[in-house]
Amino acid sequence: MTENSSADRAVAAFRETFGGEPAGVWAAPGRVNLIGEHTDYNAGLCLPIALPQRTYAAFRTREDGLLRMASTMGGGVVEVPLDDVAPGTPAGWSGYVAGVPWALRRAGFVVGGFDVVVHSDVPVGAGLSSSAALEGCVAAALSDVHELGLLADDAGRAILADACRAAENEIAGAPTGGLDQASSLRCKAGHALLLDFQDNSAVPVPFDLAAHGLALLVVDTRAPHALVDGQYASRRQACEEAAAILGVASLREVTDLDAALEALDDDVLRRRVRHVVTEIARVSEAITALKEEDFAWVGDLFNASHDSLRWDYEVTCPELDVTVEAARVAGALGARMTGGGFGGSAIALVRASEAEAVADAVRKAFAHHGFREPETFVVDASEGAARVD
Ligand code: GLA
Repeated sequence: MTENSSADRAVAAFRETFGGEPAGVWAAPGRVNLIGEHTDYNAGLCLPIALPQRTYAAFRTREDGLLRMASTMGGGVVEVPLDDVAPGTPAGWSGYVAGVPWALRRAGFVVGGFDVVVHSDVPVGAGLSSSAALEGCVAAALSDVHELGLLADDAGRAILADACRAAENEIAGAPTGGLDQASSLRCKAGHALLLDFQDNSAVPVPFDLAAHGLALLVVDTRAPHALVDGQYASRRQACEEAAAILGVASLREVTDLDAALEALDDDVLRRRVRHVVTEIARVSEAITALKEEDFAWVGDLFNASHDSLRWDYEVTCPELDVTVEAARVAGALGARMTGGGFGGSAIALVRASEAEAVADAVRKAFAHHGFREPETFVVDASEGAARVD
C-alpha cells in the first residue's frame, strides 16, 4: 500500500469514527535490526534500519483531557482520561498509545487529550516493532501539535524515543530495551543507525545495498511471538544476575570474556554472557565491514549472530532456524533472526537478483516442515517518524 493511501485510510476512518477533520497525519516505521540482538538492555550496541512499512495516526487535540483512540483493525473506540492512565490502564493496544502522553507529561512536557485513529502497515506480531511504530506516530503527533519541537533534531527524537520506551515498559508492561523506539524515531533513510545504549548516542551509517547489487529479504515466519511472556524478561534477568556476580554495572563493561566465563559457575549464565559480549563485538565488526563495503563479511557476521542466539541465548524457534538454514543453502550471504525472537522475523542478505529464489527456497522448506506459509518482502532503509499529511 502506498504512503498516501495508508494516510488516507487513517483520515477516512477518523472522519467516520469522530466526525470532522484531523489536524494532520503522522507516521512512524517498524524496524529490522541488522545485528546487535538482546544487547540494548545490556548497555550495548545495535544496528537497526527503519522499514518502509509505517503506522499512521490521524490526530486532533481535545481540550478536556480525554484520550479517544481507535484503530482500523477494529475493536471500537477506547476512551480514557489522560489523568487516569496508569500501569495496565488502559489494557491492550491502546496502552501503547495512552502511555506516550503519560510519559511525556512525566518528563515535564505540557501535552493534553486527543482523538486518534491509527492504521498500520507494519505487520502485527511479526517482531518488526509494530508497537514502537504505534508509540512513535503518537509521539510525533504530540510533539508537533503541542509545538514541543522534538522532531527537529536527534536530541529531541531521543527524548521522544525514551518517552515511548517508558510507555511500553510502564503502561503496557512489556519490559523491552530501547532498540525499537530509537529505531522508529531516530533512523535515517539510506542509513543503518549505530545505537549505543551506554551513552544513548545514534550515528547514521550509510547502508545502500542496491548500489552493490544486494537486497535485504525479510521473512515473517508468522510463528506466534509475544514479548509480554516470561522468556524475554527471564533473559534480561539472567544478564542482570551475571553482571551482579561479575561486579559490573552492565555486561557492556565485560572486557575479558574468558575471565568472566571462568568467574561464573552456572553454564546457562555463561552462555548468556558469551552471547551478549560476542554480539556487541559483532556490531563493531559490522561497522568496519560496512565501511569497507565487505558484504561477505557482513553475511558471516549475520550467520554468527544467529548461531549465538540459537545455541547460547536460546531465543530462536524451529521456524526461525529453518528460515536461516534454507536461506543460507539457497545462496544468501548471511541470514539471522531479528528482534526479540521466539517467533517473529528473520532477515537474509542476498544478491538482488536472487531474492525471489531465496524466498522460494524458504517457502518450500516451510511447506516441507508443515509450517504456515511465511510472508517475504524486500526492504530498504527508510526514514524515521514524520508528519506525512
Ligand atoms: C525486542 C525488544 C528490544 C530488543 C530486542 C532484542 O525487539 O523490544 O528492546 O531487546 O527484542 O534485541
